[in-house]
Amino acid sequence: MPRYPLIQGGMGVAISGPSLAGHVAKCGGVGTIASVGLAANSPHYNGRNYFDANQLAVKDAIADARKIAGPGGVIAVNCMVALTDYDRQTLSACQGGVDVIISGAGLPLRLPEYTRDFPDVALVPIVSSLKAAALITRRWEKTYGRVPDGFVVETPKYAGGHLGVTKMDQVDDEQFTLERVIPELVEFVEKEMGSDIPVIGAGGIWGREDMEKVFALGAKGVQIGTRFACTFEGDASDRFKQAFIDATEEDVVIIHSPAGLPGRALKSPFVAQYLEGNVKSKPCIANCLTHCRYKTEKETFCIAQALIDSFRGNWEEGLFFCGSNVVKVKEMQHVEDIMRDFFPEMA
Ligand SMILES: Cc1cc2nc3c(=O)[nH]c(=O)nc-3n(C[C@H](O)[C@H](O)[C@H](O)COP(=O)(O)O)c2cc1C
Repeated sequence: MPRYPLIQGGMGVAISGPSLAGHVAKCGGVGTIASVGLAANSPHYNGRNYFDANQLAVKDAIADARKIAGPGGVIAVNCMVALTDYDRQTLSACQGGVDVIISGAGLPLRLPEYTRDFPDVALVPIVSSLKAAALITRRWEKTYGRVPDGFVVETPKYAGGHLGVTKMDQVDDEQFTLERVIPELVEFVEKEMGSDIPVIGAGGIWGREDMEKVFALGAKGVQIGTRFACTFEGDASDRFKQAFIDATEEDVVIIHSPAGLPGRALKSPFVAQYLEGNVKSKPCIANCLTHCRYKTEKETFCIAQALIDSFRGNWEEGLFFCGSNVVKVKEMQHVEDIMRDFFPEMA
């Protein structure tokens, strides 16, 4: 169990790598490594072995995060269901000794099958509705005889990256707000599951006051992405972090991503071109998504390449995912200072 009920959300590609996750875990939160595309930044990758290198890179990242976190640190890996090597990545994370797998961008209906030899690894789906949570729970119970160890409820209204709805007009739909979904899901957990697993709120949480509001709805934890991306310990390049510092409200847009989901991002020159219907993609790196619109309709782009470009700080050509809280980022902070903001009692 973490000392504090705070999860640093997984942010790919490589925005939440071993350094960020390790430091959050060291401070008593759950540090999450995003597994997507780790190969691209790994010495194991030779340009042809993307999937094999991904597996080695996940294990390396867990080991590196553990070294920073020290004893008792809780490390999670975020695995996106939409990935071609989702089954291998979840298994590799278990083999690498992870404590928790947090999984969204699709319904993780078969996750317990991939992790069955590691029953002590906690499995936490990310959902945006009660319907999704109930479907996952019933399927897992019936097929695998286990239930989730918690749920992250992420609201598309404020969160960063891929948003857990399929249509653009659902992003601001009140039906998917934390105020609506958390109490429904807490009731489902208590009454239908007869359980006390935590419901964790995500999307738009900046400080302690936001956390307390989410707790008042019945949540027992929070997951935070954007604020942690712009930390000294964050794994992204300084140029990536500067883009967060510079961002204003007009820079935050919703795009229809190649993965077929709406996503919140900064209007970099690349994204501005895409929104104008005029995009020049670099070639597909590795067939990383099971459903990729770039493979089927060429008018979109290789998302792995665009995210790697942003991680490396290529403002012109990168896709910079962000939550709506990006406008509050004014400077780089230390992980410890953010944690203290939430938990002033921290030693
Ligand atoms: C740059 C960035 C990348 C992200 N990548 C992922 C990802 O790979 N997988 C995922 O499940 N969520 C991803 N997210 C969502 C975060 O984990 C988190 O749940 C969300 O951003 C919470 O909202 P907040 O940013 O307002 O705190 C990403 C968010 C950001 C800002």
